[in-house]
Amino acid sequence: MTLTLHSPLDMHLHLRDEAMLKVVAPLSATSFAGGIIMPNLVPPITTISALVAYKKRIIEAMGAHDFEPLMTLFFKDSYDFKFLSEAKPYIHGLKLYPSGITTNSQGGVSNMDIEALRETFEAMIALDIPLLVHGESDGFVMDREREFGLVYENFAQNFPKLKIIMEHITTKESVALLDRYENLYATITLHHLLITLDDVAGGMLQPHLFCKPIAKRPEDREALLDVALRAHPKVMFGSDSAPHPISKKECCGCAAGVFTAPIALQVLAEIFEQHNQLEHLQAFVSDNAKRIYHYRPLEKKVILEKSPFLVPASYDGVVPMMAGRNISWSIHSVV
Ligand code: NCD
Ligand code: ZN
Repeated sequence: MTLTLHSPLDMHLHLRDEAMLKVVAPLSATSFAGGIIMPNLVPPITTISALVAYKKRIIEAMGAHDFEPLMTLFFKDSYDFKFLSEAKPYIHGLKLYPSGITTNSQGGVSNMDIEALRETFEAMIALDIPLLVHGESDGFVMDREREFGLVYENFAQNFPKLKIIMEHITTKESVALLDRYENLYATITLHHLLITLDDVAGGMLQPHLFCKPIAKRPEDREALLDVALRAHPKVMFGSDSAPHPISKKECCGCAAGVFTAPIALQVLAEIFEQHNQLEHLQAFVSDNAKRIYHYRPLEKKVILEKSPFLVPASYDGVVPMMAGRNISWSIHSVV
């Protein structure tokens, strides 16, 4: 059995820099036609020159593969219309991180008060630049995303023309917001369709499944599966593939992030097949994103085949999700 996907897109991807970039970029570029690249480098990408230089390094690291990196800037409330109109041709969004909430987010926003953000949001509306948000409060770890829901509602109500993408949603409450506000959209990861907190910490601690936002409860995963499997028109696949070297994962003070890029499409096929929803995978991994971002990707056909693939134990010292396990779909060819 085979399945052909047209121009699959990964709408939330960490490619890092330097040696790590060289390891992970070709893995995404093999199976995806493009993706939204996160700006949380050290230091974060906040200038056009840094962004252009980073994009060039990404393209070099891709090797021979066709993959379009869709660049984002790290949101600052000091960005004004003049700056954003210069940035507009180079970017597909601004990524807002609450300060200190996840990996390399120290320079993020500490005040979510809309008056402090108004000038930047209004410039984004005028220029049609989407706002991508890491939606977590600094509260109790299991409640952070739900608490941030109030901020999403505040943004959505006060700026109804601002396109807001709730990144890597993990709760049933976030899913419910999609149908309440016309201007809220979401990305969903592979790992949050598969795991709950039990898989991370219910038995022996699994550092390679530790990420932000932390995986939640079974009913949350069910709500995510429900909208992903029917390719609800406001959800898109965004892996949030977030590689860290093994020394930063298997240690005291484990870094947050699950590395899924090399297995993402194959395991999505497995999940959609198990639920008899394979016909919706194309919309979930490409068509919805094209429509939401008004984006025309490179033409790339990825042919998946139902034949076992043994996930490597590591890719140059970066451990993927499902390392050492057999998955039932593999990539047959790419044209
Ligand atoms: C991401 C990273 O490592 O950059 N980590 C993660 O757990 N998802 C940052 C992020 O998207 O929160
Ligand atoms: Zn991320």
